[in-house]
Amino acid sequence: MSKSILTAAQIGCGKFAHQQDLVNLSTHEKVNFKWVCDIDLEAAKSAAKDFNVPHYTDNFMDIVNDPEVDFIKIATSHEVHLPIVEAAAAAGKHIFCEKPMAMRDNEAFKIIRAVRKNGVKLCVDLNRRMSPAMQALKKKYQEHIAEPKHNPWQYVETVREPLPEETYHHMNIRIQDESSSYSLVHLNPLTGGGEIIGESVHWLDLACWFFAPAVPCEITAFGSSRLSHGIYLKFNNGASMTLDFSCTGTFDYPKEQFEVTAGAALFRCLHFVENCYYGMPDSGKETFALQSDPYPELGSGLDAYMEKYMKNVSGSTNAKIVEQTCPLIVDKGHKAMLNGFIDAILNDKPSPCDELAGFRSTFLAQKAIESIRLKQTIPLQIEDVTPCF
Ligand SMILES: NC(=O)c1ccc[n+]([C@@H]2O[C@H](COP(=O)([O-])OP(=O)(O)OC[C@H]3O[C@@H](n4cnc5c(N)ncnc54)[C@H](O)[C@@H]3O)[C@@H](O)[C@H]2O)c1
Repeated sequence: MSKSILTAAQIGCGKFAHQQDLVNLSTHEKVNFKWVCDIDLEAAKSAAKDFNVPHYTDNFMDIVNDPEVDFIKIATSHEVHLPIVEAAAAAGKHIFCEKPMAMRDNEAFKIIRAVRKNGVKLCVDLNRRMSPAMQALKKKYQEHIAEPKHNPWQYVETVREPLPEETYHHMNIRIQDESSSYSLVHLNPLTGGGEIIGESVHWLDLACWFFAPAVPCEITAFGSSRLSHGIYLKFNNGASMTLDFSCTGTFDYPKEQFEVTAGAALFRCLHFVENCYYGMPDSGKETFALQSDPYPELGSGLDAYMEKYMKNVSGSTNAKIVEQTCPLIVDKGHKAMLNGFIDAILNDKPSPCDELAGFRSTFLAQKAIESIRLKQTIPLQIEDVTPCF
């Protein structure tokens, strides 16, 4: 593309858009932010005013029909992704779509067809893979696997050839969330699909990205597809991921923790603010800057994050108000995903999270729900997880 600045439009001006999209698009040096849209016209009008966007509408076709628009960002409820993507792709717009890309695999196939037929780029905001902490964790893991180094005191009781299972890698994901923050729209089967479709697509995608080129071959899930659940995902190289998602927790403690075990080492990510590595000589700790930090003077890492959180909320009667007025946001990769998508458009590079990744996370979420309903492990066929078109 010969341009250096892209004209963008936001469709959906709800809670997430206010925390991320409207801020990120209105401050991006390579974006001319031209439109905001919401079916609630007042929401669109107020977003336009607050973020200095010249045009607003309650009809996304106004944006689709504007020849100046290069890309759209979708942050609506989930059931309208398909019609918006189909219309935008037919008009030659590139598309940055919130997760989940689709609620079912048949919708995902139609989205893949629409973007490929019209030669536009699509990026799904399965952002965890783009967070600086996750990028660092994967790099450290890959370096260790390529050339394992152990501490001199490593416990070795007997010398023998490793058994096959001892060479398999595992990712353990612990999510504790405060469900009073969930809107009904996300739990409604028609507009959201519940927490496996709406949220756990993040961690299904993360595991696929982390263990690629291995692909999932088996999934077992239990609990509630709408709220708390567990998922065990097995890959065709023996690797596996366990997800433990509980909705009855508290925002007073970090939501996400990740542990990868591989080659007698452990790689730990604490809520995107601190990584720790164990079982290797160059172990230790890395810390990561927050996306939005009202108290940089308090330092970095998990303890500093907890101190900042408490400082932010103490004295308040509702943490939601604090979230809106004084945002303390860890870096889960949203800005890096937007940068990667813009770079992909401008320089004709692959999308940082393309339509196949969007399809796969939806497909796996769908199979997890099937596993819960059947109380059975579901085998995944290679042709289903790696469809060709
Ligand atoms: N990537 C992440 O980390 C992350 C985090 C939270 C939410 N999300 C996603 O962001 C999206 C929005 O979530 P939210 O919490 O902001 O929901 P929300 O209900 O607060 O906002 C959605 C908005 O979309 C509008 N809308 C619905 N249909 C529309 C249409 N046809 N045209 C224009 N506007 C329409 C609604 O009026 C509403 O204002 C969801 O896909 C959600 O899964 C992503």
